[in-house]
Amino acid sequence: MRDIPVEKLSEEEARAELAALAAEIAEHDRAYYERDRPIITDAEYDALKRRNAAIEARFPHLIRPDSPSFRVGAAPARGFAKHRHLKPMLSLDNVFDRAEFAAWIDRVRRFLGLAAGERIALVAEPKIDGASISLTYRRGRFVVGATRGDGTEGEDVTANLRTLRDLPLSLPPPCPELIEIRGEVYMAKEAFLALNERMEAEGEEPFANPRNAAAGSLRQKDPAVTASRPLALFAYAIGECSEPIADTHQGLLARLRAWGFAVNPLSRPLQDWPEAESFQDEIGLARSSLPYDIDGVVYKVDRLDWQERLGFVGRAPRWAVAWKFPAEKATTRLVAIEIQVGRTGALTPRAVMEPVNVGGVIVRHATLHNEDEIARKDIRVGDTVIVQRAGDVIPQILGVVPEKRPPDAKPFVFPDRCPVCGSHAVRPPGEAVRRCTGGLTCPAQVVERLKHFVSRAAFDIEGLGEKTIEAFHADGWLTSPVDLFKLPAREAEIAAREGFGTVSARNLVRAIEARRRIPLDRFIYALGIRRIGEANARLLARHYGTFDAWRRAMLAARDPTSEARAELEAIVGIGPAIAQELADFFDEPHNLAVLEALAHEVTIEPASAPEAGGALAGKTIVFTGTLATMTRAEAKARAEALGAKVTDTVSKKTDFVVVGEEAGSKAEKAKALGVRMLTEEEWRRLAGLA
Ligand code: IVH
Repeated sequence: MRDIPVEKLSEEEARAELAALAAEIAEHDRAYYERDRPIITDAEYDALKRRNAAIEARFPHLIRPDSPSFRVGAAPARGFAKHRHLKPMLSLDNVFDRAEFAAWIDRVRRFLGLAAGERIALVAEPKIDGASISLTYRRGRFVVGATRGDGTEGEDVTANLRTLRDLPLSLPPPCPELIEIRGEVYMAKEAFLALNERMEAEGEEPFANPRNAAAGSLRQKDPAVTASRPLALFAYAIGECSEPIADTHQGLLARLRAWGFAVNPLSRPLQDWPEAESFQDEIGLARSSLPYDIDGVVYKVDRLDWQERLGFVGRAPRWAVAWKFPAEKATTRLVAIEIQVGRTGALTPRAVMEPVNVGGVIVRHATLHNEDEIARKDIRVGDTVIVQRAGDVIPQILGVVPEKRPPDAKPFVFPDRCPVCGSHAVRPPGEAVRRCTGGLTCPAQVVERLKHFVSRAAFDIEGLGEKTIEAFHADGWLTSPVDLFKLPAREAEIAAREGFGTVSARNLVRAIEARRRIPLDRFIYALGIRRIGEANARLLARHYGTFDAWRRAMLAARDPTSEARAELEAIVGIGPAIAQELADFFDEPHNLAVLEALAHEVTIEPASAPEAGGALAGKTIVFTGTLATMTRAEAKARAEALGAKVTDTVSKKTDFVVVGEEAGSKAEKAKALGVRMLTEEEWRRLAGLA
């Protein structure tokens, strides 16, 4: 079916293909997001999504409710559309102690003209520290989701919200014609820590706290990114609603629950306001053991007719108040600044302090984030520092008490060597984090690197799971990837280990021996160089052909002014930042030693030029201007599939320049250099597309 051009599909064929594509893409989403084991390449996945979108564009009435265009991976938007809330999203007034809370109740009583003895039933709910959102449902279907924005207008993040598992896409009847449901998108503490670890592994800047992580994940341009983030949702209020749905806030929460929303299980009705104090204490005690961050308790008048009468003052309702927990701060002395090396090589400074009680928890360590932060706050060893527990997750240093600085305190100098292995620690321009470049041997990172090295897309060695790697590493059998190839000599010892036996030891040895031949792209990928994923490894392998050529070029490219560096940067898809990562890797002698040793253990096969022999095999092509029949990315993928090399700059070495609409200086340069120019039509013929 896929061979039929979209313009030629009959309606029946289109319907069948959309169904097949929805199922197929959903399967790939599961493989990618749930199992972390994609079955196809990103380019193949994108091609499926594009085909789906093209069919949908031609037959909009056939768009399926479960269309992959709605779930994830939609074309990245440029910013977000604005969404005007039907009812404004308000904030809450804060109180900090019993007296302020009592004063709030008093105002409520006076406003409603209640007698002194009349009870005011309340509902208490933890105040979730996340990002507030408004969800609009029409006839029970989720139609728009938006951030709070300025309270009147937020950002339309519908596509991202659709990826949340906690979000009901439709409400079971009975439900009103139109309703805005309000709630908080948050990230659980554990999920937040795991996400940060993952982001660091991918070379991205971690988030400072779960609230930032939630808000940042919600405002992604690409819904696929949001989908990969562990976001959760609690619903706690409504905005516009076309008909009354309850008499009390309790009743409203019950309706939300019945529609499938998560409502915070700690929410509790209170008979009257004096119960608030003990509830506040109870939640305050439970706070640090809750799986998510809260920063107080919200108290709401239960009767909705009273809420209606109370209305709003300024930007906040009179019928609710947030009783915040006291800020948890303390001062203590900074004893040392330690540098920790993460499993991915990030050097993170950590404050070591004289133990201090911060809001009931003894704190000895605090994060200092990164070197700029230390400099900005001018934090010095010996200083008296102000510590705060931000949410509950990681204590932070707010600043120093300058009057208490010892006269001999010196500004902190961040190391430029890894404190664990002594390799260079480099900080790429524009990044906040300094990293150890000796990943292949650095003890802090080697287990992580070995796991990557033997993974499916790299050396693909079966029978060597995480536990085994850790155990072998602990015993000193695996200190770098080179040691893998020494394992066969230990077959008998392996067989004698717990969890092994003769058969599994033999299988492991065989699996290792079978990988003594490896294609260049897999080899490059296996090295775990930052930002060199499978796709970039393939680009490099194709461009340089052999291991020796690649290594020579990379060594030369360490010099930023060299031609080798210019050539590396000119590979489409590589660019200066990635080139610098490669240069940093090759600049570290530890890495060169490992490369050398590995090259003795394994045979690295040259990159194959696929479909060799075609008119494009081995040719260098530059695309310029806009092509009418395909995107630049598609053209590039096609050219590479035919064994051509695609670059960005025209030189004497360029074989063809494909000239599209509104081509500029590259076409002129090609003319000047006498490089052969192709029209789109000619290119299509050469590429076997016409
Ligand atoms: S009710 C009209 N309930 O706190 C009142 N808000 O400081 C609407 N929040 O923007 C808010 N947990 O993002 C309410 N259980 C809860 C809440 C809650 C967290 C947030 C919400 C709001 C902010 C106000």
